[in-house]
Amino acid sequence: MATTDDITSGGIADAPAAAAGDFRVGGELPVHRMGFGAMRLPGASWEGPAHDPARSIEVLRRAVELGVNHIDTAAFYFFEDIAANDLIRKALHPYADDLLIATKVGPGRHPDGSWMDAADPAALREAVHRNLRELGRDHLDLVYLRFMPDDGPLPERFGTLAALREEGLIRHLGLSNTTAEQLARAQEIAPVAAVQNRFSPLRQEDPAMLDLCAAQDIAYVPFFPFGGAGAPDLTALRRVADRHGATPAQITLAWLLHASPTMLAIPGTSSRAHLEENVEAAALRLDAGDLAELTALSQ
Ligand SMILES: NC(=O)c1ccc[n+]([C@@H]2O[C@H](COP(=O)([O-])OP(=O)(O)OC[C@H]3O[C@@H](n4cnc5c(N)ncnc54)[C@H](OP(=O)(O)O)[C@@H]3O)[C@@H](O)[C@H]2O)c1
Repeated sequence: MATTDDITSGGIADAPAAAAGDFRVGGELPVHRMGFGAMRLPGASWEGPAHDPARSIEVLRRAVELGVNHIDTAAFYFFEDIAANDLIRKALHPYADDLLIATKVGPGRHPDGSWMDAADPAALREAVHRNLRELGRDHLDLVYLRFMPDDGPLPERFGTLAALREEGLIRHLGLSNTTAEQLARAQEIAPVAAVQNRFSPLRQEDPAMLDLCAAQDIAYVPFFPFGGAGAPDLTALRRVADRHGATPAQITLAWLLHASPTMLAIPGTSSRAHLEENVEAAALRLDAGDLAELTALSQ
């Protein structure tokens, strides 16, 4: 198992995010299990309102100061002319050697914000090059193929990313919004280092995939950790939070980190205060009673 608490990473082994322990993505790139999702940086939602870019840049720099070395982004994370990838480049380039920036490709968004229906191999290649340009990198650490319903055959699209990996433009491949069957088909083409699916205490719908990833040392990266609509404030979460002197958001993240040794949290926020609160959760340890109470949340 590649999960270990003793991997030192860029001299920040005692940073707050390191308290979550580490995981080696693809068996080789060590990241702290408490990361950051960049989707909320351009705006509160696809429809806005916009967030102040200077404030978002400050949030990114603070995340890295706190030891976050796994940032999740996509070229389709933009609102009007504010794009997550540009904010990341402005905030953090030149990048620290230990920073893993993960991105996603699949059906993208038109400049007006509307979604494309599909992504053929040419569109996927262009999306990879766009991420390279926007992030200012010569290769991408981790690229997920993100599935949308009916958006085309897997082999030619995952095969396109596998070819880009062979060309040295991508280090590791992942799948997002995926199933066990798609994972198995993709693995016939190239190794899969990470799966990014929806999972939270409120939507515990992916336990088989969690186990599959843990058994194969594949990172499991839950999106919408708070359920997609801000931190949930449910009675059970509050009860556990009160016992730990923590917030419901922190308990949510601690629960996720407990759910699997290959779980990498990427909570998204545009707020420095929320970022600091979220990263602090890396140090929380839940007991069996807490876990039972929280697992019952989605039943
Ligand atoms: N693969 C996919 O299809 C997919 C889909 C969605 C997202 N993602 C990725 O997953 C990441 C995480 O998802 P998400 O950010 O959308 O998750 P989320 O569960 O929707 O959480 C983000 C929301 O919670 C709020 N929040 C964050 N920390 C908080 C705290 N401590 N207290 C109260 N509210 C808090 C944020 O508002 P504030 O800004 O006000 O803090 C924001 O509204 C994204 O950033 C993105 O990288 C991937």
